[in-house]
Amino acid sequence: MTSLHSISASIILLFIASCSPNTEQQKGLVTENAMVVSARIEASTIGAELMKKGGNAFDAMVATEMALAVTFPFAGNLAGGGFMVYRLEDGSVGSIDYREKAPLQASRDMYLDKEGNVIPGMSTTGAMAIGVPGTVDGILQVHEKFGTLALEDILAPVIALARKGFVVTKKQENRLKYYDSILTEVNGKPLKEFSGKKEGDTIKRISLANTLESISKKNRDGFYSGEVAQKMITFIQEKGGILTLEDLEIYRAQWRDPVQFNYEDLNIISMGPPSSGGITMAQIFKMIEPYDIGQYEHNKDEYIQLLTESFRRAYADRNYYLGDPDFVDIPTEKLLDSAYLKNRMSSFNVEKATLSSSIKNGEMNYYESDETTHYSIVDQFGNAVSVTTTINGGYGSKLYSDELGLFFNNEMDDFSAKQGVPNMFGLIGAEANKIQPQKRMLSSMTPTIVEKDNELFMVVGTPGGSTIITAVTQTILNTHEFDMSMQEAVNANRFHHQWLPDMVTFEPNGFDDSTLQKLSIKGYIHNKGYARIIGKVDAIKVLPSGLLEGGADPRGDDTAIGF
Ligand code: DON
Repeated sequence: MTSLHSISASIILLFIASCSPNTEQQKGLVTENAMVVSARIEASTIGAELMKKGGNAFDAMVATEMALAVTFPFAGNLAGGGFMVYRLEDGSVGSIDYREKAPLQASRDMYLDKEGNVIPGMSTTGAMAIGVPGTVDGILQVHEKFGTLALEDILAPVIALARKGFVVTKKQENRLKYYDSILTEVNGKPLKEFSGKKEGDTIKRISLANTLESISKKNRDGFYSGEVAQKMITFIQEKGGILTLEDLEIYRAQWRDPVQFNYEDLNIISMGPPSSGGITMAQIFKMIEPYDIGQYEHNKDEYIQLLTESFRRAYADRNYYLGDPDFVDIPTEKLLDSAYLKNRMSSFNVEKATLSSSIKNGEMNYYESDETTHYSIVDQFGNAVSVTTTINGGYGSKLYSDELGLFFNNEMDDFSAKQGVPNMFGLIGAEANKIQPQKRMLSSMTPTIVEKDNELFMVVGTPGGSTIITAVTQTILNTHEFDMSMQEAVNANRFHHQWLPDMVTFEPNGFDDSTLQKLSIKGYIHNKGYARIIGKVDAIKVLPSGLLEGGADPRGDDTAIGF
């Protein structure tokens, strides 16, 4: 078993090994063999460490995912879900969908009152918001298919970390403070492990360590049946939820074909439905491809305009056509047809903003920032793994089981509770994304791998709810069209549009007044006086030399570690 001592020693060694000087461009961490970029240094380190010991990217994925659950409970999880896109060293690609599902007892109108109005908070907070967790089955299936190290050896350092505890960062302190009252309210008491914790304090996750031990010993049965499952269901039902033991028993993650498309000399591989990420991003890239982006200045009006008009059109299709492919027929070919997309852009007028449909949308109610989490891994064998995982909102449904060390997701809010009524990301859903028992809710998560000239070029993804797709698109364009280093591409300011509400959102301070003024004159409404960060991109680029460059987002505590 790996001792914590040896892990900390290795952290230092890995750091030293990886601090190569980065001169010309502002580069992120550059390493020769392997790298993990994630939201927490401990998670990146545990993943990198396993690869250093001979494990591959998939072993590292299992450990990184669980280490994020320990150290980044805001989004890292066991009782949530996610998506992973991979590319093997031989160039073959695939993906796994471990998205949550609606419980067997769910129904289309479960969040509506007698008058047919959405009951505020019911799909976002507390036990009714919880979808059947997929993460544990997801990582176990990945391990079974591609793992090379024993599960016990992969989880041992994570369990040790949970027992020893992690140190709270300033950003974490701020988040805990921000959410403290709602966590207390939903759980009926302050959460001992988290309440009042300040920067520099250590948080131990003893009950979570025990749950991880159960999985380490019993695999799937250590979570989806037996004692842990029983405790989970008792807890959820006592809090008024509808999940049953049968929901857990029958949950299975699904291997699916990823969405693949070309943009110039890039081949982009991303997540298909039930994530909208791949199809929507493909539509965006196909709509902008006929334009010579090289003639535009980065983040100036013409560039923003072109992207905004493609975002607008792609999100309108997203919200109407996309849902769980096991339940709805998605016209993928039509949606990605070049003639169709060219026609969609034919109404684009450089002099004037296209107005989004006049369908009345609800009040825009953007939720604060970036509760999901993304990590990117490349191993020393050339395998690449791109993973986005979430419990949806910050600390999910806010319900926390002390006994199991789990925050439960509020992923049910990603369904369309009622047609035409926006969810917490302001996304307006349609029939395709209505609630049905056992169905997966539509996602925007966009874990992506990019090839250039048939070689691995980039691994990229981000949290950010509805802004995920546009943030990943801009990061790829930043490197491909504007020759930025991976770190610069991650750092660059981002903007977002999602059809409805008809508004361009800009990150704070990153866009000059004259650009915003020009856009206003053309009829673009934007977020004057209200700004937030968009996404936290964690990415890896393969440099022409074959070295790996990490892009860890400075908007969070994100860190690249490798060797
Ligand atoms: O699957 C989705 O699209 C959302 N549940 C992701 C949530 C997210 O990124 C939260 N961060 N803002």
